[in-house]
Amino acid sequence: MEKITIQDMPKHVGETVKIGAWLANKRSSGKIAFLQLRDGSGFVQGVVVKANVSEETFATAKSIHQETSLYITGEVTEDTRSSFGYELQVKEIEVIAESHDYPITPKEHGVEFLMDHRHLWLRSKKQHANMKVRNEIIRATYEFFNNNGFAKVDPPILTGSAPEGTSELFHTKYFDQDAYLSQSGQLYMEAAAMALGKVFSFGPTFRAEKSKTRRHLIEFWMIEPEMAFVEHDESLEIQEQYVSYIVQSVLKKCKLELEILGRDTSKLEKVQAPFPRISYDDAIDLLHEKGFDDIQWGDDFGAPHETAIAEHFDKPVFITCYPVGIKPFYMQPHPDRDDVVLCADLIAPEGYGEIIGGSERIWDYDLMKKRIADYGLDEEAYAWYLDLRKYGSVPHSGFGLGLERTVAWITGAEHVRETIPFPRLLNRIYP
Ligand code: 4AD
Ligand code: MG
Repeated sequence: MEKITIQDMPKHVGETVKIGAWLANKRSSGKIAFLQLRDGSGFVQGVVVKANVSEETFATAKSIHQETSLYITGEVTEDTRSSFGYELQVKEIEVIAESHDYPITPKEHGVEFLMDHRHLWLRSKKQHANMKVRNEIIRATYEFFNNNGFAKVDPPILTGSAPEGTSELFHTKYFDQDAYLSQSGQLYMEAAAMALGKVFSFGPTFRAEKSKTRRHLIEFWMIEPEMAFVEHDESLEIQEQYVSYIVQSVLKKCKLELEILGRDTSKLEKVQAPFPRISYDDAIDLLHEKGFDDIQWGDDFGAPHETAIAEHFDKPVFITCYPVGIKPFYMQPHPDRDDVVLCADLIAPEGYGEIIGGSERIWDYDLMKKRIADYGLDEEAYAWYLDLRKYGSVPHSGFGLGLERTVAWITGAEHVRETIPFPRLLNRIYP
């Protein structure tokens, strides 16, 4: 008999098949038992009718506990009442390993309890859906960049430099030297772009930031494209195409998951390039109109400001050209103004905040050298980075998309802690 997975059941209607599964939940009466089964690929209901199975099989169905692992044999049938659309008419049950007193029951649990049991919580339906959407975003990311002539390059995790400011670095010893965990692969990706043209990375990044918000992780995953001969406006076009692509891919491939999560997909359907752009200057005016009297030109935006600006649009919005003082050292100045830089943050709708930070990079050697000094950085550590401006420097741009914030927005998750398998948060490194 063929051993299949739940997701392949639609191809086996009318056949008797075998699956490996766990018991997620169960309901039973005297003559029938309904087993909610999951195998990682999906969820399906197994129906055990007393009259159709051996006494032993029915007794097993009645006595097994939540999360018992099983081999189940049965016939695949269509079932129009469930959103999956298929059911398994169970013929035989073989217990692989028992499970007793599983801590996460179908009743409500508090978030801290669930976070303490994250290694088990991942098995539940909504968490499973979050991980499937995350996976689809990753898949679509590779597809998008491969289709558009980008090469994947992997920057190091152990580094000697700080692209995004020195206050948020995890320090470690590198034998007898000092090193930091990467907070962004960008500087290395700039070197890679000078070798391979259009490149992207996908990897973990670390921020020793004492932020305890629903948008901040200590360890998060970032997608960082970097492009030679690409200027600021062209970079924004690639960003809006990329974000549209992943949203539309999730809508197409994760219908069931979005339904399980109760996501209002009409809002996601609108996410198609082009996206609106608003300058930092205009954003400040808009905030003043909306009654945010405290914010002044030169201040960075907080979450309430970003939400207020995003509410004005029904798609993600680029806020462009921030003041030089609130952005990192490497950003190219505006050609007509020296108080703002050629950068943009992409703000997601519905209060999910900044999902992309990007800019054109300074490519003039003398200006870059001056900025490194102005920002109090150690020139020796950046000598290799300056070399990129010494040997055939070119205009280039890049950006970083935070995966977990993007998953949170697309799934409608309340907090980024549910969008990564094992979140590292302020005060949490277990499990
Ligand atoms: O804006 P950030 O700090 O930009 C950079 O690191 C650039 N070097 C990227 C580049 O141009 N290659 O971070 C980029 C994105 C943010 O927009 C946000 O989505 C995410 O990374 N991010 C975080 N996500 C979760 N937790 C945190 N603490 C985050 N910090 C940034
Ligand atoms: Mg940023």
